Order: sequence, then C-alpha cells, then structure tokens
Amino acid sequence: MNHRPGRGSSQLPARAFRDALAATFQRLQRFHLPRCGVSWVTYGCLLNKINESTYPLVREEIAATAKTAVPGQEGTISERDVIVPTMTLVIREMRDGDARSFLEVQYAAVHRIAVRDYPPEVIEAWAPLPITQAAVEAVIDNPEEEIRFLAERGGHIIGLACLVIANNELRACYVAPEAARTGVGKALLMKIEETARNAGVRYLYADSSLTAEQFYRSQGYEVTEYSHHLLRGRWPMACVKIRKAL
Ligand SMILES: CC(C)(COP(=O)(O)OP(=O)(O)OC[C@H]1O[C@@H](n2cnc3c(N)ncnc32)[C@H](O)[C@@H]1OP(=O)(O)O)[C@@H](O)C(=O)NCCC(=O)NCCS
Repeated sequence: MNHRPGRGSSQLPARAFRDALAATFQRLQRFHLPRCGVSWVTYGCLLNKINESTYPLVREEIAATAKTAVPGQEGTISERDVIVPTMTLVIREMRDGDARSFLEVQYAAVHRIAVRDYPPEVIEAWAPLPITQAAVEAVIDNPEEEIRFLAERGGHIIGLACLVIANNELRACYVAPEAARTGVGKALLMKIEETARNAGVRYLYADSSLTAEQFYRSQGYEVTEYSHHLLRGRWPMACVKIRKAL
C-alpha cells in the first residue's frame, strides 16, 4: 500500500508503525476492544474502536517508536494518518495558511478513493503530483471566490468543501481516505447547504464525480444527467450532474 509521506517529527516507517500498533493493541486489550488483527487493512478497523480516552495511548506508542525508528523502504505513515472517528469533528472556514493541507486532502481523496473509478490520466489531470507552490498559491488566490470549509479532527485537516454562491454551485467535497465513511462528507455538505440557504440560494448544482454519486444521492441530491466535466477547462472526465432544492 502506498501511503503518502507524513509531516513533522512523528513519521514512522510502515513496519515500525505495524509493530507499534501491535504493541498498542496488546495494551488496549484492557479496554475490551474486539480483536481484529493488525495489518494495513485492519488497523483502521482497530482505530475505529478507539475513543478519545484511549487515543492518547496510541499516540504515545507511536511517538515512542518514532524516536527509535529508522526510516525504511516501505513508505511512511505519520500521526496525521491516525485519526479517530470518535474525536470531535470541527467544521470551520479555511484560512490562507491551510492551502497546502487543503490540496493534500483533495489529492489524497483523488489518488486513493476516486482512483477506482477513473483512468490514470484523469487522476493525474485532476490532482497532479507533486503539489507545487504555484498550486498552493492558486488556491490562495481564489479567483472564483469559493467559500471553503475544512473539517478537522484531533487538529488534523481531514476534509474540505467549497461553494460558489454566484453559480449556485457546490464546487467540491473531499474527505481524506483515512477518515472516509465516518460522516465527515455529510457534515461538510450540511455546512455548505446552510451557508447557501442563508445567502438566498434555492437550488444547489454540482458536477459530481462518479465516485461521489451514491454519497450525494444519500444526501437528497437528484441526478439530472450523466455527462463530462472539463478538468481545468481542458481534460474531460466523466461526471454526474446533480442538484438539490434547498
Ligand atoms: C464522496 C466523499 C466526499 C464522501 O465522504 P465521506 O465522508 O466518506 O461520506 P460520509 O461518511 O459523510 O457518508 C454519508 C453517507 O453517504 C453515503 N456514502 C458515502 N460514501 C459512499 C460510497 N462509497 N458508497 C455508497 N454510499 C456512500 C452513505 O449513505 C453514507 O452513510 P453511511 O456511512 O452511514 O452509510 C469521499 O468519498 C471522497 O472524498 N471521495 C473522493 C473524492 C470525490 O470524488 N469527491 C467528490 C468530488 S465532486
């Protein structure tokens, strides 16, 4: 599994992370967590069972291992990847200083979630890696006056959504893969809809990805057309045109 490099002092080689998690798992037994094995696939399952009171234990374990770990070849994982669904979710407006994290979340969602529905050339045009300073500055410029909201858990940015009032348009909704299916997208959408409603918007429209169709349908959006969207005005990607009366 290819995890993006994390940031800060808590980066761990993948093997060390597994070891740390195995050790943590032993300690967490006393919290009566169901046993679910320790692997890349199941660590998320284990973390889903951890609550705010047990989370510090995991962090401690990871931090301790990080001090002794030698970066390996397997890729790295950071504390940022260890996000616990039961921690408080905060939805707030984006600030300029969040622009790189905004792109990191968006790109991770594209490269690790939407990747199952699109060919590599679309994924690359949609979220070209690496994230450049020019891309970060373009986000800050915000020429279309997007209203942007971020979702945060445990101090980590794990989701984003954008609204363009002038077009009645829901422009984007992305959730970090490690936080998917924990209600983050729904919370962001509720904030976007509330903001649009308060601005007098009666209908919201969006070009949804194929990936997000079921998500939007579950939140009351109707499909008006299966179509194509031009990425950055140039590369076509299959999309689903949707709308919702507010
Ligand atoms: C689409 C996306 C934003 C959904 O975010 P999320 O936080 O995982 O969604 P939520 O947990 O709030 O889901 C709310 C409900 O939507 C539905 N839903 C979400 N993802 C779904 C999926 N993959 N398949 C079926 N239903 C889904 C479910 O009913 C879910 O409720 P449940 O988990 O209780 O069953 C996220 O998957 C993502 O970032 N995808 C990749 C990027 C992308 O394509 N974004 C849209 C650009 S237009």
